[in-house]
Amino acid sequence: MASQAITPASKGWHTSDKQCGRVWKALQALHGKHAQWPEFDARVRAHLGVLRGELAALYGQRDDFETFLIELLDAAFGSWVERPADLKALDRQREAEPHWFESQKMLGGVCYVDLFAGTFTGVEAQIPYFKELGLTYLHLMPPFLCPEPHSDGGYAVSSYRQTKPSLGRIADLRRLAEQLRKEGISLVLDFVFNHTSDEHEWAQGALGGDPHYQDFFYIFPDRKQPDAYELTLREIFPDEHPGAFSQLADGRWVWTTFHSYQWDLNYSNPAVFQAMAGEMLFIANLGVEFLRMDAVAFIWKQLGTSCENLPQAHNLLRAYNALARIAAPSLLFKSEAIVHPDDVVSYISPAECQLSYNPLQMALLWNTLATREVNLLQQALEQRHNLPAGTAWVNYVRSHDDIGWTFADEDAVHFGINGFNHRQFLNRFYVNRFAGSFARGVPFQDNPVIGDCRISGTAASLCGLEQGDPHAVARLLLLYSVALSSGGIPLIYLGDEIGALNDASYVNDPGKAGDSRWVHRPARNEARYAQRQDPTTDAGRIHAGLRRLIALRKHLPVLQGGRLTAFWTHNPSVLGYLRQGDSSRLLVLGNFSEFEQYVAASVLAGIPGTTVDFVGNTAVDPRQGVRLAPYQMLWLGIPA
Ligand code: GLC
Ligand code: GLC
Repeated sequence: MASQAITPASKGWHTSDKQCGRVWKALQALHGKHAQWPEFDARVRAHLGVLRGELAALYGQRDDFETFLIELLDAAFGSWVERPADLKALDRQREAEPHWFESQKMLGGVCYVDLFAGTFTGVEAQIPYFKELGLTYLHLMPPFLCPEPHSDGGYAVSSYRQTKPSLGRIADLRRLAEQLRKEGISLVLDFVFNHTSDEHEWAQGALGGDPHYQDFFYIFPDRKQPDAYELTLREIFPDEHPGAFSQLADGRWVWTTFHSYQWDLNYSNPAVFQAMAGEMLFIANLGVEFLRMDAVAFIWKQLGTSCENLPQAHNLLRAYNALARIAAPSLLFKSEAIVHPDDVVSYISPAECQLSYNPLQMALLWNTLATREVNLLQQALEQRHNLPAGTAWVNYVRSHDDIGWTFADEDAVHFGINGFNHRQFLNRFYVNRFAGSFARGVPFQDNPVIGDCRISGTAASLCGLEQGDPHAVARLLLLYSVALSSGGIPLIYLGDEIGALNDASYVNDPGKAGDSRWVHRPARNEARYAQRQDPTTDAGRIHAGLRRLIALRKHLPVLQGGRLTAFWTHNPSVLGYLRQGDSSRLLVLGNFSEFEQYVAASVLAGIPGTTVDFVGNTAVDPRQGVRLAPYQMLWLGIPA
C-alpha cells in the first residue's frame, strides 16, 4: 500500500482544523465503504490541509466554501476511481522516488502532432526515432478540439475532453501515452487553464446569456471597467488587438489577454476552479505525466495591478498541485512564466510547479551569441540558477514561442548595460537589421509605440545556418551543450536536431498568417531527417554532435540534479561553470566567439593534474592554460 510513501499528514488537521475534519467526514460518509477509498483517504489526510488553506485564501469568505470543497473532493474521488490501474501503480512508484526527474538520463522533446507526424498514430510510429534520440519526455503541443482556422496553434481549447478530429480520437491519445510510457517516455501536455476558446461550451453558454457561464469569464457591458484595468496592463499580442479586451458582436467586452478568441477565465469564481480541476484530472487520467501550466502569470486579475504574477495565482497553482497529489499523484507541473526572473522562480517549488521553463538562460544564450560577451549569462548562472530541492529547470534553446529579452534590467546595470537600449540592439541583431549579423530572424509583435519587439526564427536560422555562416553548426551545438550540462531537463524543439530552417510558407495558411511564430514551426522535413546519418551535410553534423552530447550526458552522473557553481574564466567570451558530483566534478567551458580564446593557467590553478575533455575525448593539462577554438565547448572531467 502506498501510505508509507506518502508525506505524513500536517499534524492533526482534523483536530486543530475543524473545517478539514468536517469535509473529511462528509467524504468518508459518501465513499468510506468504496474499495478504492483507503488509498485515496491516505492522500486526503496528507494534503487536505494544504488544499483547504490555499483555496480558503481565495474563497474562504464565501458561505458555500465548505460545500465547494466537499464537491471538489467528491469529484476528485470519481476521477481516482476511474484512474487506470497502471497509472495508480506509477503514482506509488513516483511517490517513492520523488527525485526521479532530476536524473541526467532525462531528455525532453517537443513537437506539434500534425506538423511532426500527422496524427497520434503517426507519433506512435516515431517512437523508435524518439528512442534513438534518447527522449524520456515528449511534449505534444495542445491536441484538443479548437476553432478553425484560428486556434493559436491549439492554445484556444474548445473542449478538453475531445481531440482535434484530424489528429485522431481520445482513445488514440490514451494509447499513445501508454505506448510512450512503456518505452520510458513521459507524455507532456498543456493545461491551458487561463482561457478557453470562444467556441468552448462555457463561452457559448455565456454568449447565450446563461448567468452561470457568464460568471466564468470577465464580460463587461461597456468600456468603463476595461478602461480602468487597462491603465495598468501590458499588451501581449498588440498586433491582433490593442489592450486586453475584445468586443463581442452584441457590443459587450470580454477579457482576452491573448487573441480575441481566447477568453480569460474568471478564477474569482470558485466554479471555474472546480470545472477546470475536473478537466485537469481527466487529462491526467489519459496518462499525462507532466502538465505544462500555460500562461500562469495571468490567471488572477485585480484592478489597479498589472494582473500578472499576483499572489493569488500562486494559491491557485498550489491548490491544483494539492489536488493532483490526492487524485493523480504522479502528475507534475511545469510552469510557463515568461516574465521577470524574480517572478519566474516564484512559481517553482515542490508544492507548486516542480519544473519550469528557464526563459532567462534561453534568452541569455542568444544574447551571448550576439554580443560575444558572457557577462550576463555568467551572472545569471551564478545568481539565478540554483533552485530548491525537488524542483528542476527545463533548459531550452528554442520553443514554439518567440524569444523575449526577459533579463532583469537591474542585473544588466551591473555591467553598465541599459536594458532598453540593449533590447533594441538584440532585436536589430536578430532580425538582420544589424550589419554583420549572422542571424535570420523575424520580428514578432513589433510595437513601435513602446519600442517592444520579440523574435521569431528557428534555432538554426538564428545561428546563421540559413545564410551559410561557417560557424552556424558550432553555435547551435554550443547552445545545446549548455542546455544539456547546466542542470535540469534539456528540451529539444524537434527539428533543431537536424537544423530545421525558417519556413515562410505559413503566410499562405489563413489560420497562421499574421503570427510570425509559425516561421519557426516548420513541418517535419523528411529530406533533412534522411540526411541525419550523413556527416557531409549540416543536418548530419548537427545530429551527430547533439547525439554525442546526449550520450555523454546520460553517462555522466555528475550531471544529475541542477546545482552548479559559476566559474569566472576572466576571458569575456568564455563561459564557465562547475558541476559537482559525489565522486567527480565537471568543468564546462564554452567559447561564444568566432575567434580562438584562451583561459589562463592561473585561472585554472585549482584544478589538479591532467583532465579529460569528454566532448573531444582528449587530454587537457590545465597547467598549460586552455585554448578553445571558435564556439568550442569543453566538458572537463575532474577527479573529486
Ligand atoms: C502560451 C503559449 C503560447 C500561446 C499563449 C496563449 O504562452 O506558449 O503559444 O500563444 O500561451 O495560450
Ligand atoms: C506567451 C507568448 C509570448 C509572450 C508571453 C508573455 O509566452 O507566446 O509572446 O511574450 O506569453 O508572458
